Amino acid sequence: MVNWFPGHMARTKKLIQENLKLVDVVLELVDARLPESSRNPLLKELLGEKPLVLVLNKSDLAEEAETVRWCDYYRQQGHAVLAFDAVQDRGRQEKKTILELVKGQAQGILARRAARGIRNQVIRLMVVGIPNVGKSTLINNLAGKGAAETADRPGVTRGKQWVRLEKNLELLDMPGILWPKTEDPVAGYKLAATGAIKETVYDPLELSLWLLGWLMEHKPGRIAARYTVEEKGEALSVLTAICRQRGFLVSGGEANWEKGAEVLLAEFRGGKLGRITMDSLEKKAEPEH
Ligand code: G4P
Repeated sequence: MVNWFPGHMARTKKLIQENLKLVDVVLELVDARLPESSRNPLLKELLGEKPLVLVLNKSDLAEEAETVRWCDYYRQQGHAVLAFDAVQDRGRQEKKTILELVKGQAQGILARRAARGIRNQVIRLMVVGIPNVGKSTLINNLAGKGAAETADRPGVTRGKQWVRLEKNLELLDMPGILWPKTEDPVAGYKLAATGAIKETVYDPLELSLWLLGWLMEHKPGRIAARYTVEEKGEALSVLTAICRQRGFLVSGGEANWEKGAEVLLAEFRGGKLGRITMDSLEKKAEPEH
């Protein structure tokens, strides 16, 4: 099994644990296209009783109806949850909603502090999630300027900075970076296809063939609509057809699979094949093997 962050896991765990002590509420960012696969089960363990707001980010790239269902599902499990698009934050309304949810989740803590006679209470929060899920974008969005550095390594670095979002609300300007799930190979492919796992871990050609197979099975018609090719047969023959259609050929007229794979992955990640949710709630309802 591939180890995405060799040597970092124990350190990450310690860093996140240390930073959790400093905050009252945690904003967990997951990818709305893979709300389950982009969660790290360790977080639940580390959080203990710490309140959480779950943000399904990149909702602009996910199927709207599926996102609604996932939000309902998590709400039924007692989570405070919101679908978000950190890049656009259309209308700024959702940003306000995130902060309302944070304040709602902090009520118990504030009440306990008030009972101990503590006034001028500040709610502190931090953003956590796997790489590339949009943590820095969200922090910048919430903070209103280039407050967050993108640190592509697990844990939270030293030199903690707090950004005041409202009078009594402060955000840690460095995100907590969790590693993605490693135990489920399909989740691994999904994470790689959406860009959460760096390409070096996967061969792009192998990944694109997996993606073609997945799309043909789960989202029939998307490949045909985008590339004007027939969706039948082996993934490799479909990729060959895409290459021919786009003129990705090597000398001698053979299909340039590497180029085809690169373009397919980039277009999928950029939403050019339409909004796609890869984690399905129906699948989740099936017994686990
Ligand atoms: P991270 O801190 O969690 O690692 O993620 P970061 O904010 O750096 O965001 C990773 C990429 O995802 C960025 O693209 C960012 O613009 C994009 N992104 C973040 N939130 C959203 C969202 O809600 N919707 C969409 N569509 N994209 C979002 P990038 O700078 O182009 O990086 P990359 O594509 O080269 O990885």
